[in-house]
Amino acid sequence: MPEKSGGNPEKLWGGRFSESTDREVEMFTQSISFDRALWQQDIKGSRAHAAMLLKVHLLTEEEEHLIQEGLSRIEKEIKDEIFPFRDEYEDIHMNIEKRLFELVGTPAQKIHTARSRNDQVALDLRLYVIDRSREMAGLLAEFVRVLIGQSRRMREILLPGYTHLQQAQPISAGYYFMAHAERLLRDRRRFLEVDRGLTLSPLGSGALAGTTLPIDRESVARQLGFSGVTGNGLDAVSDRDFVADFLHAAVMLSLHLSGWAEEWILWSTREFGFVRIPDRYMTGSSMMPQKRNPDVLELIRGKTGRVIGHYMGLATILKGLPLSYNRDLQEDKEHLFDAAETIRQSVTLFMRIAGESVLDEDRLRQALSGDELLATDMAEDLVRGGIPFREAHAIVGRIVARCERDRRKLASLTDEELHEFSPAFPKGYASALTPENSVRRRDLPGGPAPERVEERIREIERELDGR
Ligand code: ARG
Repeated sequence: MPEKSGGNPEKLWGGRFSESTDREVEMFTQSISFDRALWQQDIKGSRAHAAMLLKVHLLTEEEEHLIQEGLSRIEKEIKDEIFPFRDEYEDIHMNIEKRLFELVGTPAQKIHTARSRNDQVALDLRLYVIDRSREMAGLLAEFVRVLIGQSRRMREILLPGYTHLQQAQPISAGYYFMAHAERLLRDRRRFLEVDRGLTLSPLGSGALAGTTLPIDRESVARQLGFSGVTGNGLDAVSDRDFVADFLHAAVMLSLHLSGWAEEWILWSTREFGFVRIPDRYMTGSSMMPQKRNPDVLELIRGKTGRVIGHYMGLATILKGLPLSYNRDLQEDKEHLFDAAETIRQSVTLFMRIAGESVLDEDRLRQALSGDELLATDMAEDLVRGGIPFREAHAIVGRIVARCERDRRKLASLTDEELHEFSPAFPKGYASALTPENSVRRRDLPGGPAPERVEERIREIERELDGR
């Protein structure tokens, strides 16, 4: 090995050492087993860094050319899965630099000029979070469009809306699907915010406080798509706020999916029977032949624990860290990577389940047939007749109690019967008391009347189209 590294020639940092590293230590400190996920970002960063070094004459054209070529070969080796990852080389940064030396020789020894792994990993991680945030924003936009499709297709289907898991007021399936869409839309905005927040390049921060060499930070930053450079190296090498921001967005998304998963796990039971999830998304039991289980939804609900755990894990790593870079920060990655992959899988599958499942109209109609969920409408109609709302509430409460006792429906009450409770009910009142009318009449912004749902859908479409 022609590399002049000193006492521990295996290592890029071996010069001041007098013996080789303990094997257990190597295994303990390595991150290559997981941070290889950063290979694309690392190569992208090195390409931009090399181009800048050429610009400021710290590399010759020949050297820069060889480095770029070597990086292309490395890129191909990793894609073809023949890259020789070695845990003695600790992490993705040193694996790539070592390989670059094997491939192009001496010029590779200049790639790390005016750079530290501290600003290198700070950059790679930012690029990674930008990529994954955009990917999530894209997936969530797709998901919202799927829900818009379902909402329009099922606008006529009515179902009970719930609070406290008790029937509350009738709504339409169109309105229901858009409620989930609103949540996912907020999640999408959160991921877009994480991306938009990452505008500054940390490259040039060096290990913590820059370099004496005449580098051009702005030009690398621009080449990498940033609009500027970070303002303080000490902060920039240790800032992982954006990882926490991404994980927070991941947690919120997971909470939304897990609540919905719970809802559909219930809705797919024989007891509810509101939704029919296609067989391809269900699993069977090894013992009970009749079973058809919603395991995918259960796992989406369960994996939420994992994602929340990753947020807690990261926050615990960051807690109490003195400035600036500390090796603890290497532990940020598995939390980030696993959370990103988990939400990607959960969203992809839930989007398909949501788009391909059908609501059982008969079951929903049956569920609506006990018509106490029209009681609020009755009270509001008394208000129209001049009765104060509190009094109207009490009157209808008594009507509901009577109907419950007599096993009658509200809509079956005659004018005479209604007048016993209040003379304010107009003639033929009960016959207009239907879930259809109830939904149609709640015609206000944010309400379930079909035109209002459509109005909101158009607004959301404009947002998704970036108009
Ligand atoms: N693998 C390291 C990490 O993920 C890279 C930075 C190492 N820096 C250092 N000074 N040891 O944080």
